[in-house]
Amino acid sequence: MRELSLIMLAAGNSTRLNMEVKKQFLRIGSDPLWLYATKNLSSFYPFKKIIVTSSNTSYMKKFAKNYEIVEGGDTRAQSLKNALKLVETEFVIVSDVARVSISKNLFDRLLENIDKADCITPALKVCDTTLFDDEILQRERIKLIQTPQISRTNLLKKALDQDVNFTDDSTAIAAVGGKIWFIEGEENARKLTFKEDLKKFNLPKPSGEIFCGNGFDVHEFGEKRPLILGGVEIHPSMGLKAHSDGDVLAHSLIDALLGAASLGDIGELYPDTDIKFKNANSIELLKEVYHKVKEIGLELVNADICVIAETPRLKDFKESIAKNIAHILDISEYRINIKATTTEKLGSIGRKEGIAVLSNVNLKYFDWTLL
Ligand code: CTP
Ligand code: MG
Repeated sequence: MRELSLIMLAAGNSTRLNMEVKKQFLRIGSDPLWLYATKNLSSFYPFKKIIVTSSNTSYMKKFAKNYEIVEGGDTRAQSLKNALKLVETEFVIVSDVARVSISKNLFDRLLENIDKADCITPALKVCDTTLFDDEILQRERIKLIQTPQISRTNLLKKALDQDVNFTDDSTAIAAVGGKIWFIEGEENARKLTFKEDLKKFNLPKPSGEIFCGNGFDVHEFGEKRPLILGGVEIHPSMGLKAHSDGDVLAHSLIDALLGAASLGDIGELYPDTDIKFKNANSIELLKEVYHKVKEIGLELVNADICVIAETPRLKDFKESIAKNIAHILDISEYRINIKATTTEKLGSIGRKEGIAVLSNVNLKYFDWTLL
């Protein structure tokens, strides 16, 4: 049996999907799409190495210890180049994770033809009348190139060293004089590109799992600036000391979101040693964090936020804070609850030295079947 490596490309921006979630992170059952596609292909052959390109390596590494996760580049070709550095086998199979349901039949036909050329490529024929601007093309001469493709590793490395933005391996190999062999492609190997494609592949719907997260933060009074909680001005001069604007509620909520999404904590993302975050608007950070959460295929179910303060009284602000958070996170108001309590004059909060906030959130998978 030949030694083969598998490269799965998953570091793209999903621009054409035109949604907050990146297509590689849409959930198929409990697995992100990139993992679903990689498990599918890897079940067809005992690959020597499986390499996946990523734009979020620390997160993706948590899913599969037996894969090598490498940082992607700005283009598919650059991502592939990074992955190829880890390949030592004579042949390498490269596929787009966006081709999510490749069949064993297509895979076997690729392998059967491995000795026919330097790169074996599936391609679909065009059956419809095809125009280029207004000019009719000879459709018999057109091929729609698909992946997976199997290539001679050395030649592919050489081709990509030219730093041309090749959008697949066969065109790269042809550019350095390599021979290409085409096999018939398949509908299943079409690439998930637009929102409308999502329902074409008959994929399992996202699981109904719920992920809880908690966040806690405390800041001391003593800054002559407005006291801001959840983006709402509570008092003109009872400001909290902090590297940022001191919005302790926003910080605690950010940590709860990051926790539920398994994305680390606020200190990792926004270090208080970084001058960039001096007096930062915490609501902007909250928006950015929620975007990161959505990008990996999750969304908020509800948040319950408890502000612990002896002073000032928050009774009259709870509703406006809840409204503001709901607006920022684009969610119904009934899903955001703000509570306020004191510590009955006990401890530092009781001595009116500062404010603490405790947040709990629940996240669920974004349900793309409802689109
Ligand atoms: N890809 C990659 N690194 C890049 C760009 C793309 O690893 N810099 C991967 C994608 O994740 C995808 C495959 O290459 O699995 C094919 O790319 P495409 O379908 O174009 O995906 P995106 O580039 O993410 O989508 P779009 O072009 O719509 O932005
Ligand atoms: Mg692209």
